[in-house]
Order: sequence, then C-alpha cells, then structure tokens
Amino acid sequence: MKDLFGFIDDLYDKADVSDNALSDILTDSYVLKESDQRSLSFSDVDTYLFKSADKKRREVYDTDVYARGLIEISNRCKNNCLYCGIRRGSPVYRYSLSQDEIMDCVRSGHEMGFRTFVLQGGENPGSDRMITELIRRIKSEFPDSAVTLSLGEKTKKIYEEFKQAGADRYLLRHETADKMHYEKLHPDEMSYDNRINCLWTLKELGYQVGAGFMVGSPYQTTGNLISDLRFLKELSPDMVGIGPFIPQHDTPFSGEKAGSLLTTLRCLALIRLMLPHALIPATTALWTIHPKGRDAGLKAGANVIMPNLTPSYARELYNLYDNKKNVKDEAGIRLAGISAKISESGYRLSMDRGDVIRK
Ligand code: 5AD
Repeated sequence: MKDLFGFIDDLYDKADVSDNALSDILTDSYVLKESDQRSLSFSDVDTYLFKSADKKRREVYDTDVYARGLIEISNRCKNNCLYCGIRRGSPVYRYSLSQDEIMDCVRSGHEMGFRTFVLQGGENPGSDRMITELIRRIKSEFPDSAVTLSLGEKTKKIYEEFKQAGADRYLLRHETADKMHYEKLHPDEMSYDNRINCLWTLKELGYQVGAGFMVGSPYQTTGNLISDLRFLKELSPDMVGIGPFIPQHDTPFSGEKAGSLLTTLRCLALIRLMLPHALIPATTALWTIHPKGRDAGLKAGANVIMPNLTPSYARELYNLYDNKKNVKDEAGIRLAGISAKISESGYRLSMDRGDVIRK
C-alpha cells in the first residue's frame, strides 16, 4: 500500500515531494458525499492532509484570515475565454464603474476597516489611463491601504505605469500551466506564453504577484494539476487563487461538469504545504459549490477572504459563473457575520494590509 501519510509528512518537512506522490494524493479514491450540505466528512488521509496544511499556515500566519475588499470595476472584456461569463461573446449588459463610483466603494470599504482593495475587471486596454489615475487617487487618500489589481494581461509599460502610480499587488491566474490545455480553454488569439511572461514581468517589476488556476476545468487531467503545482513552485508567487470551475450558461462550456470540492481542497492544502508563505483566498467559487466550502477552505490552508464591495447593480452583471454567492448582500452588513463565522472555525479576521510574510 502506498504511504500517503508518509508523503504528507515529507511535504510538510521539505515543502516538496515527487510527482507520483502528488498524483497519489490527488487521486486517492475516497468519495466525498457532496450531497451532504450540513457536514463534510473526509477520509483519514484527507483529514491528515488538511490538518498538516493548517499547521503549516499557523506557523507562518498564525490564525489570521486577511480581508480584502473586492471591487468589480467593469465587465467589459476584449477576450473570449471559453469558460468565462464576461467573455466578449457573452450577451451580458456591459458596465464600467466611474472613477468616482469606485472611490465611493473604496471610501466606504475603508470606513468598514478594509486596508486592501482589489480592483478586478475584464481586460480593457481603453481604461488603462483611468486606472493609473485611480490608483494615484486611492493611494493619496488612503496611504495606509494596499492596492491590488486584477485586470489581465498588459504590456510591461502599462504594468510599470500602474506600479509607479502606487499599485502594490497584481493577480493574474495562469489558468493552466500546460500549453495544450491552455489552448483548449482559450481562443487562438490568446497566447499561453504571453500569459506566463506577464507573470514573470510583474515579479520583475516588484509587485506582490498572484497566480492560480481553476480545478476541474474542461479537459483537465491530474497531470495538468501537477504541472500547475510545479509551475507555482517555480514562480513562487506571493498569492495563489484557486477555485473549482463552474459552468456558466452563456459560455461554450455551459454543459460541462463543475470541478469537485474535494479536489479543490486537496489542491489548496498541497499549495499551502509547497508554498508555506502564500496568501491563499478561500474563493467565492469554492463557497458557491458548497455551503461549507469557505470554512473547509480555511481549514485546508487558505488564509484570505475577499468580501465584495461592488455596488449591487453591477455585481449582478459580473457573473463569471452561475449562482455566484453573495450577489445580493452588502459587505458592511456581512462583515460582522463573517467575523463571527471565522472565529467559530478557530481563526481571527484581520483587517490589516496583510502583506506576504517570507521567512
Ligand atoms: N468558473 C470558475 N472560475 C472562473 N473564472 C472565470 N470563469 C470561471 C468559471 N466559469 C476565474 C478565472 C479567472 C478568475 C477571475 O475567475 O480563473 O482568472
């Protein structure tokens, strides 16, 4: 019998293990009863994996869970990614928040206590100048806060401009570290090499960088997931965002199966063990596929949550995937509830900037 417990111990001690061991952990055949909405019961191996990841996160970040205020600034996008609900070809009504609207979101978020603002939106080169100005405004009004951008692929020059204006961090999921798989998820006009190069450029420019991928995206194999973990190990990003793929009704992948909760949790735990310093959100997608998803994510190594500060009219139009959680709630009202839930799980909600801790 393969010693999965031994593999997990090795990972814990050395932050690395063979591809075969990763594969054995990822494909262990225990079946989670995903229909059980109240409690999740895991196998002994998975329980050990999640406990080990949790122990590692506590060594670096103690019990802190950092809050980031997410602002979905625009659903206009020039790309046509096959999985995404705001792809160019989708019939959704398009919006872009004005600079003043975004400043209002930041102001009210700051009042609630947020000290990181994540500006996320579709890829839209026409707004680069506005973004540069916006970053300056946020940083001059709130010098105590970090600005994270999640706006897709740009030229080095634009990334530089954003950095000079004061941006601190940049999230750009690599989506998959396998070029052939990438090409099955994206139209011909998009380039795997460019995406990967963007990540290295962002690093070189001194951003705190976030990469990541979807779990269970169409055509994904276990080998692809291992390539993702290997790529992350090589890039060593400060942040890693992963979540299950969830079909969206207006996309070519509308009929595909969603990613599994268990595999996503296993990936989260493996990433925590391989990159102990990483800031890892328990993503909305994880929560969308299971009511206990967020809690389970935190217990498997995640240490960030991203409450949504977007005005609700816009939030409804930012449907990357179907049934997205929290489309109707107000962040302010929810924050107290979130804080209580996090305490119940044994963690502490931190409203600090929460920069990466590299030992
Ligand atoms: N399911 C899950 N995640 C998705 N994303 C986009 N579409 C989907 C989907 N259908 C993720 C991508 C992107 C991030 C902003 O959202 O990984 O990088």
